[in-house]
Amino acid sequence: MGSAALLLLFLTAVHVTAATVHQHSQCLDNPPDMSLRGVEAGEVVDDLPGGFRAYVTGPSKSSHAVVLASDVYGFEAPILRKIADQVAAKGYYVVVPDFFHGDPYNDSKILSEWIKSHSPVTAAQDAKPLFASLRNKGKSIGVGGYCWGGKFATEIAKTDDVKVAVLSHPAYVIVDDMKEVKWPIEILGAQNDTITPPEQVRHFDQALRQRMDIEYFVKIFPRVAHGFACRYNTSDPFAVKSAEQALAYMLDWFHKYLK
Ligand SMILES: *[C@@H]1O[C@H](CO)[C@@H](O)[C@H](O)[C@H]1NC(C)=O
Ligand SMILES: *[C@@H]1O[C@H](CO)[C@@H](O)[C@H](O)[C@H]1NC(C)=O
Ligand SMILES: *[C@@H]1O[C@H](CO)[C@@H](O)[C@H](O)[C@H]1NC(C)=O
Repeated sequence: MGSAALLLLFLTAVHVTAATVHQHSQCLDNPPDMSLRGVEAGEVVDDLPGGFRAYVTGPSKSSHAVVLASDVYGFEAPILRKIADQVAAKGYYVVVPDFFHGDPYNDSKILSEWIKSHSPVTAAQDAKPLFASLRNKGKSIGVGGYCWGGKFATEIAKTDDVKVAVLSHPAYVIVDDMKEVKWPIEILGAQNDTITPPEQVRHFDQALRQRMDIEYFVKIFPRVAHGFACRYNTSDPFAVKSAEQALAYMLDWFHKYLK
């Protein structure tokens, strides 16, 4: 091989490496805009069972609780807080835990590195005391998860900790998960989602259809991408409307199955 060919090989390798490092993930699009933080109906508490900080909102005496699991940006995102308040306005006691214990993803980190110490599967195990304390207070619980939280919600839906689950543009969820969930599950996907593309969502649908033993609902929202339900361009009316619809679908599902 001549030196020119070697140089070309070398340059190609450098190019590929750079492309991998800078590979863009839709999980990171439209990061939360903290300046959107408005008046919040709830408060942050420090000492929930399991050692969690959490944003809590809604009537604490309600017999129905909803745990919302955030995306990688964590529980401080203003839009997520607003969703929590909107769910609470329907009469639910809503808990948005800080599953990352003060270490959410931010753009100074590499997602593939960060995720190694922030597994949604491990988080679901660590959250057992939190769900147990809500159940011990006589509450039946629903879980709603976004992106990272979609996998968290899936894992929780395999246990008796909840009665119902909603996944909005989930990440890391695989078809085999659908064979193990035990409760009515709603999956809201997006046409332009490159993390969990429509084809994958349709595989979830097929797996659930074969089960016969659980209720499920699957919808793919047109002309929106991964993140559409909780991270979107708030100046884009279509994006805003799609997110409002996703929230309405989630509320309907909780209303129907959280008894
Ligand atoms: C990103 O996360 C690191 C580690 O948690 C933290 O020290 C840093 O302040 C964060 N950066 C921003 C911009 O929030
Ligand atoms: C979705 O994909 C369509 C077709 O590729 C494209 O025209 C549109 O701009 C995309 N929209 C979003 C929000 O990603
Ligand atoms: C958000 O939407 C508005 C209205 O459609 C558009 O003008 C603007 O460029 C969008 N911003 C981003 C960051 O995509």
